Amino acid sequence: MWHRRYLKGENRQVVKVKDRLIVALDVDELDAAERLMDRMQGLVSQYKLGTQLLTAAGPEAVQRVRRRGFGVFYDAKFHDIPRTVGTAVAAACRLGATIVNVHASGGKDMMQAAGRAADEVAKKLKQPKALVLAVTVLTSLNQKMVEEEIGLKRDLKNQVVHLAQLAQESGLDGVVASPHEIKAIREACGPTFIILTPGIRPTGSELGDQKRTLTPGEAMAAGANYIVVGRPVYEAKDPAAMVRQIHREMEDALK
Ligand code: C5P
Repeated sequence: MWHRRYLKGENRQVVKVKDRLIVALDVDELDAAERLMDRMQGLVSQYKLGTQLLTAAGPEAVQRVRRRGFGVFYDAKFHDIPRTVGTAVAAACRLGATIVNVHASGGKDMMQAAGRAADEVAKKLKQPKALVLAVTVLTSLNQKMVEEEIGLKRDLKNQVVHLAQLAQESGLDGVVASPHEIKAIREACGPTFIILTPGIRPTGSELGDQKRTLTPGEAMAAGANYIVVGRPVYEAKDPAAMVRQIHREMEDALK
């Protein structure tokens, strides 16, 4: 059974559950990325490329995924002065990224520059606008680390909601946030604001360095638009079987 929901941008269409799972290609080489995509044929339609593969293989990584007809979440988490971020987002969009992200803590001017860049490239190249999302607080951080290491006095959840609202005021499409904050962000930012959540652990899998995790079903039930899963899929003996398990968990939660 497909869950139906309307999303913005390129995703302005009815999105099937399986299109709401993004698999992270956190590998060092293009060949390894190709092998993983081969093993998940017909199951995954969007892949996430992070700083690991983007740094190792550059734009070719984006082209390889796009050539197969899949969406690319360009997870570079840009955080720099507005002009630099704007030009970097424009470059990612020209390469064919369907989702790009920046750190919300870079501030409003920086986020507006990112949003404007994505709009301009879409208009110029007559292509769908990439979704521009803001990273709130990394899912590998918890309250103690945020307070004691980073020196933030605000409660973690309030900080996440604050940054999500700032991203919305800056005109961005949504946020990347921990599954534990989905409900609070939905309440604060409304039904059309996109929430993409990493830190997902299918039933029975290892946590790794993630501190604030939920299962795929729990994240769907809480109102996530997209979930990103990395290690549980690419470290699985049978990645395709793991993807199918995740689809089932997502679908069961929405029945
Ligand atoms: O392997 P795992 O499922 O933990 O992978 C999660 C992916 O999502 C990683 O590529 C990580 O960089 C990314 N991510 C995250 N937390 C964020 C933003 C992105 O874990 N806040």
